[in-house]
Amino acid sequence: MSLFFAGLLATATAGAAPFPIVETTSGAVRGFYPEPDLRAFLGIPYAQPPIGSLRFRSPEPVKEKAEGLIDATSFGFSCYQWRVGIVGATALSPTTGESENCLTLNVWASAGHSEHPKPVLVWMHGGTFTEGSTSVPMYDGQYLAVAHPDIIVVTVNYRVNVFGFANSPAVPEKNVGLRDQRLAVEWLRDNIAAFGGDPDKMVLGGESAGAMGTGMFAYAYPDDPIVRGLIMESGEAPTMVPDDGTLWASLTETLGCESSDPTEELTCMQGVDGYALKRTLSPNELNPYSSPPKTNPTVDNVTYFGPVGYAALSAAGKFARLPALRGINNNEGNVLVEFTPEGGPVNQTLADWLTEIGFNCPAAAEASVWAAHDIPSWRYRYFGEFPSLMMYDWMGAYHGSEVALLLGTTDNVRIRDSQPNEREAQKYFQDAVVSFIKDPVQGLEDFGWPVYNPNTTSLVELFKDSLPNATFEEGAAYDGAC
Ligand SMILES: *[C@@H]1O[C@H](CO)[C@@H](O)[C@H](O)[C@H]1NC(C)=O
Ligand SMILES: *[C@@H]1O[C@H](CO)[C@@H](O)[C@H](O)[C@H]1NC(C)=O
Ligand SMILES: *[C@@H]1O[C@H](CO)[C@@H](O)[C@H](O)[C@H]1NC(C)=O
Ligand SMILES: *[C@@H]1O[C@H](CO)[C@@H](O)[C@H](O)[C@H]1NC(C)=O
Repeated sequence: MSLFFAGLLATATAGAAPFPIVETTSGAVRGFYPEPDLRAFLGIPYAQPPIGSLRFRSPEPVKEKAEGLIDATSFGFSCYQWRVGIVGATALSPTTGESENCLTLNVWASAGHSEHPKPVLVWMHGGTFTEGSTSVPMYDGQYLAVAHPDIIVVTVNYRVNVFGFANSPAVPEKNVGLRDQRLAVEWLRDNIAAFGGDPDKMVLGGESAGAMGTGMFAYAYPDDPIVRGLIMESGEAPTMVPDDGTLWASLTETLGCESSDPTEELTCMQGVDGYALKRTLSPNELNPYSSPPKTNPTVDNVTYFGPVGYAALSAAGKFARLPALRGINNNEGNVLVEFTPEGGPVNQTLADWLTEIGFNCPAAAEASVWAAHDIPSWRYRYFGEFPSLMMYDWMGAYHGSEVALLLGTTDNVRIRDSQPNEREAQKYFQDAVVSFIKDPVQGLEDFGWPVYNPNTTSLVELFKDSLPNATFEEGAAYDGAC
């Protein structure tokens, strides 16, 4: 047989092809096999590049399929961003360059043939809506997909800071970064079957801003959420303070675009070089927490309702009534307050206050809303303190540290050697979350976690006292500050 024919045969045999190709509404994407049994498709465009007159505007679906193969063998560009100089910020560095042409997503799906379409986790990174990228090694989806080949893992880039949350009076559609998230979910609804996924079995989740975006999604699309479950790690819809418009005003002034004609002003701002715009926001790569001023979501009562709006919608039951898994970490605040670079401990009083008021109380309140409306939901408090993720002993179960366990990326972060119970804890956490992804209504009950009710012993304490599993407590035991 000639080499030519051998090559043809190889392509025709499932799993043995030199590279996997999947037809999508964006065009045919050519992925690769990072592991023998895993297909990866990285940097798939799910929207038109939001550049030129599309800057600050709602994302547009891809209009025409790409001609030829889309190369999906490496992560796409990160969206323009600056980073907050918190402890461990280096572990959060994207590995790709920045560009406005950043609306891509990544799919990891097992290579083996499956009779049944698979449940899907759609994961959104954190970063206070100012930073973050799917190319951050801690957010790599391939390890969870290898450990659990019966689900498909997807990670999504969305516009952040002024590019995603500008507040131009000339743009009626606010919070385009949240609209990016929605368009990505719509793209997956239309395309995930081609990767072996079930569009009716998608769960949306994320950490920090990714969790807030997930919560906001539930309130924004009550009648057509597309997904069938929600995961909110350390963030809730009502957590953020709404934008007050002052940042847009100061940016237009600094850039010489300020005008009494909002359309003229917008056109001018759309003409500013993207990198220059980012630099106007912050000349530093790393910034102290809460500096420079944030471009928070703007209340539009469509994509974002603000804390007062959410309270009213919660009481009225006007949100997507989907099973939810939510929780916080025991020491969220430890990496979110000022610290001395020499490694001295933070002001623990202040850090604990931030953990309770900024994270625990919103999670407690939302978990109670779900319980009051009789929607199955689970609530955890994460106590995992693993040396592999800790630069300093005092960091505790800090903000974001659970993501490395969930996604199985501790080796990508590795600061010190693991301890024996870490892998066991990782397996327990992944098994729990995957039970939820596979069956958001029943999965966690079958796993042994009680449905959360503020009146019962149903708060899941994860890895307390270095146990590799869970104990259960009343929510009230932790909600004294709320
Ligand atoms: C949003 O709704 C609230 C409550 O109904 C209202 O006070 C506010 O003016 C609305 N804002 C916008 C931008 O529609
Ligand atoms: C720590 O923070 C608390 C709360 O903000 C404050 O009252 C206290 O003075 C701070 N302690 C130190 C040593 O700075
Ligand atoms: C919890 O108990 C209080 C007081 O008995 C009751 O009003 C509330 O409805 C209960 N909440 C749930 C979710 O069962
Ligand atoms: C949790 O792990 C500990 C230590 O390995 C074990 O003794 C205990 O039985 C486990 N608990 C459950 C509920 O599996």
